[in-house]
Amino acid sequence: MPPQSRLETIVATIIADPTLHARWLNTFSFLEYVGFRKIVKSQRAETLGLAVLTHALEEGRHALGLRKIAVKLGGPRFDSYEPETLLCGEAAESYFQDLDAACDAAFSDRAEAERSRLAYASVTALVERRALDVYEAYKRALGTSEIARKLEGLLAEEVKHLGEVESWLAEAGAGSVIAAADLSAREEELYERFLGAVEHELTGRFVGAAATA
Ligand SMILES: [Fe+2]
Ligand SMILES: [Fe+2]
Repeated sequence: MPPQSRLETIVATIIADPTLHARWLNTFSFLEYVGFRKIVKSQRAETLGLAVLTHALEEGRHALGLRKIAVKLGGPRFDSYEPETLLCGEAAESYFQDLDAACDAAFSDRAEAERSRLAYASVTALVERRALDVYEAYKRALGTSEIARKLEGLLAEEVKHLGEVESWLAEAGAGSVIAAADLSAREEELYERFLGAVEHELTGRFVGAAATA
């Protein structure tokens, strides 16, 4: 099954169940929070400009907005990133951390400040492209619901982030390094590993439910 229809099947199962749906939302809140934290950690205050500061705060706001919907849907127990409030939180975090490590390694021959800037831009470009795909599929599945409307602002900001980092990467001529290190293929592999973990979790849940029925 191609990844997109795998995703659509997963999303349809998740949104049919409010608890799973709250875990899904909180997982994306967690990823947005990890993104926010990564940006803050990767920058030196002396050179932190408006664009990156805005990007960090927008990711923080995405984490907050998704958390609020998760709590509204699932109740106050979703007001944390405890493992049971997430959907394959560990697999989600390794998607991000492993990709970050691969991007950092691809620019290991650069001076530290440039390496950190290019690693930040390349991991952001790859993650933003994927986030747009996933959020758009999720939004489509939600139809005209209130959550779908709330996702619109978030999607517009992700499109803006992607445009910014893509132009930095083009200016820095980083495309050949990204291609040589096969970073897109690595991202795809990590994403499929995450989808596999979610499918496994959903299947286990139904097998468990059937066994106790
Ligand atoms: Fe975001
Ligand atoms: Fe973003």
